[in-house]
Amino acid sequence: MTAVGSGAWAASEAARRRTFAVISHPDAGKSTLTEALALHARAITEAGAVHGKSGRRGVSSDWMEMEKARGISVTSAVLQFAHRECVLNLLDTPGHADFSEDTYRVLAAVDCAVMLIDAAKGLEEQTRKLFDVCRHRNIPVITFINKWDRPGREALELLDEIEREFRLRPTPVTWPVGDAGHLRGLVDVRSPERMLRYTRTPGGAHEATEDELSAAQAALEEGAEWAQAAEELELLAADGAVHDQEAFLAGRTTPVFFGAAISNIGVRLLLDALVDLAPAPGPRVLEGGGTRALEAPFSGLVFKVQANMDPAHRDRIAFLRVCSGIFERGATVTRAASGKPFATKYAHSVFGQDRSMVDVAYPGDVVGLVNATALRVGDTLFTDTAAVFPPMPTFAPERFAVARPADISRSKQFRRGIAQLDEEGVVQVLVSDVRGDQAPVLAAVGPMQFDVVAARMAGEFSAPLRLEPLPYQLARATDAAGAEALNRSRLVKGEALTRVRDKAQLALFPNRWQVSSFEREFPQARLDLLLAAH
Ligand code: G4P
Repeated sequence: MTAVGSGAWAASEAARRRTFAVISHPDAGKSTLTEALALHARAITEAGAVHGKSGRRGVSSDWMEMEKARGISVTSAVLQFAHRECVLNLLDTPGHADFSEDTYRVLAAVDCAVMLIDAAKGLEEQTRKLFDVCRHRNIPVITFINKWDRPGREALELLDEIEREFRLRPTPVTWPVGDAGHLRGLVDVRSPERMLRYTRTPGGAHEATEDELSAAQAALEEGAEWAQAAEELELLAADGAVHDQEAFLAGRTTPVFFGAAISNIGVRLLLDALVDLAPAPGPRVLEGGGTRALEAPFSGLVFKVQANMDPAHRDRIAFLRVCSGIFERGATVTRAASGKPFATKYAHSVFGQDRSMVDVAYPGDVVGLVNATALRVGDTLFTDTAAVFPPMPTFAPERFAVARPADISRSKQFRRGIAQLDEEGVVQVLVSDVRGDQAPVLAAVGPMQFDVVAARMAGEFSAPLRLEPLPYQLARATDAAGAEALNRSRLVKGEALTRVRDKAQLALFPNRWQVSSFEREFPQARLDLLLAAH
């Protein structure tokens, strides 16, 4: 294939790709929806069964003993499936409450997010945090309001909440006939003259059957419920809550869908929306300005590095999102950070422990590079013409603990292990002259990051550690003068440390009041919010 031919081929394959993640609070139904989406569409990776909680249909992607014991999943993986003319890449994000920076980083590799909301609970803490990251990265968001088969809040009230809290205009594309708990069917707002009616088979069977009714039939058979839905739709139209593709892509509006993932209600309409509304991969912004066109030679971004996914082999997988051109397994590419060649012989598609070789991949696809010890989160790989993508943002940690070697004779291994986990981005490592390098402070977004560190330090580096939680909860970026002021203040509880990864000065405080006291005492000191800080 000529370079010109392969560029056009890459662009036409990219146009068929939709790369997205589901963002939600635990228990909103992400596993259920993922399963329903993949079953509804055609899973391309035969081996890539959807992981659910243990005991559920689907294969668990657990990779560490710790995960098995808890029945949760720490790994992020990718599920690829086809719907209509498109190939959908669903990037999994850890769903557990103790989520970590990984969850955020996955959002650097998607073009769109599906925000899943529990109809009874509305917006919840993790939905808010993840939405903040989407907004910061300009990722368009499609909303799916789930569990409409159960009693919940009113549809209009949920829309109000989204608009008020996120300053994001909800534009319903489907609308429920029947309140939460009395779901009769859905109206596709684009063809309001018909109703899709769902009937759940008695006796506990999950999948609902769908039939189509004309408006006249719906008025006759569904009476008050249909009348209410029709009235609400009129209200919404009068209020201008109508899907506008440009406003959606600009992050000003969110198309809203209703359903019940557990009964497969509304899932096909969501899949159609991903094909029809979600953006395909586009040119990617480069560090220092300009963009990398889809037609350009191959380039990709490492958004996640995962060690020890296969307990039988101590390996390390770097997850790469293809950004331009065609990825061909076996080709030698260049690692931008070092300028050194990197061989792509062991390229896989990965879902938990299931792997299959990948020979080619197109923009939007994700490839797992096995044994990629040289690669780091944020690395760019390319062929021919150089490309460097902007660095991956680091996130505001909320939990802090001092790490010390449990066995002082293993100090060297301890230091090596901590340095490696820092490079991989498993936790953030903070240091200060006062504490010394035998007592670094580990900083995490979620406490499970500490468990992963403890397990890996003991298992992989034979350097078990002791962790001593610190009473801080807030981190702010400061400068050298601010750090000095904080460390010498006798009135404010707090501490300034240096983040090893980027040498940033972080000021840590136990609560907001201490932040305010510090601001009062040193009004000139710089204190900036970090991304995802609260
Ligand atoms: P998560 O990955 O976001 O944490 O959520 P998950 O899919 O595990 O769903 C959380 C609970 O909500 C599960 O019930 C699941 O069956 C239920 N659920 C998901 N979607 C729907 C829906 O559309 N309607 C209703 N009524 N329930 C839904 P569970 O009892 O906690 O687990 P399980 O025993 O069913 O596995």
